[in-house]
Amino acid sequence: AAMEAGLLAPSSSPSVILTQDDLKKIAAYKAVEYVESGMVLGLGTGSTAKHAVNRIGELLRQGKLKDIVGIPTSKMTHEQALSLGIPLSDLDSHPVVDLAIDGADEVDPYLNLVKGRGGSLLREKMVESACKKFVVIVDESKLVNYLGGSGLAMPVEVIQFCWKFTAARLQKLFQESGCVAKLRTFGEKEEPFVTDNGNYIVDLYFNKSIGDLKVASDAILQLAGVVEHGMFLDMATTVIVAGELGLTVKNK
Ligand code: 5RP
Repeated sequence: AAMEAGLLAPSSSPSVILTQDDLKKIAAYKAVEYVESGMVLGLGTGSTAKHAVNRIGELLRQGKLKDIVGIPTSKMTHEQALSLGIPLSDLDSHPVVDLAIDGADEVDPYLNLVKGRGGSLLREKMVESACKKFVVIVDESKLVNYLGGSGLAMPVEVIQFCWKFTAARLQKLFQESGCVAKLRTFGEKEEPFVTDNGNYIVDLYFNKSIGDLKVASDAILQLAGVVEHGMFLDMATTVIVAGELGLTVKNK
């Protein structure tokens, strides 16, 4: 019950077994403590951010928060926030966002991120690069020594036109890091996953570090056919990590 109220910190007590989803929720509830009435809020996407959006909706309903404007980072979050009665807008009307709360797929020691395994990297990057504070919420499984180091995908959003050509160029760009580029698909029929913006995602897998991240970022963005990539460099101002032994708050 305490955790449902968002009050429980992870405990080292062996009698408390926290699931990964519990940890996500604990990080999310902690991040919502940064929210103040009157704020324009970037609403993240994914299974961790979902808890933060739910909590914001709950606090609004209880009258503990007032005059919030939410800027969703995906169609899915838009639907969730609408169902919770959170007033919504967009970057055209609110080009400055006070605070964004979102999950991440990887966090390196310098608080650089990989995002977009949920497929919403483009809108997330647009909203989160417009915010004064960007609070990232993760469970400890997301911490890596270097980006790409989890062995999981680094997503790149590409236009559908000749995506194989773009994927081949991406793979070649990082051939020294053992890069393999794969089109993201879903379902048994392996249909291409289409983003909220009508694009495809090419997932990059590496077997070693890609070196200087800014150089890598610039090289990816220079390829015609690339819309955006999932490296969020120097954007997070705070990362809240929930682990079995408690919460850690890392500030830039
Ligand atoms: C979606 C994202 C998510 O924030 C990221 O994939 C983390 O998701 P989850 O909280 O479900 O682990 O970037 O595009």
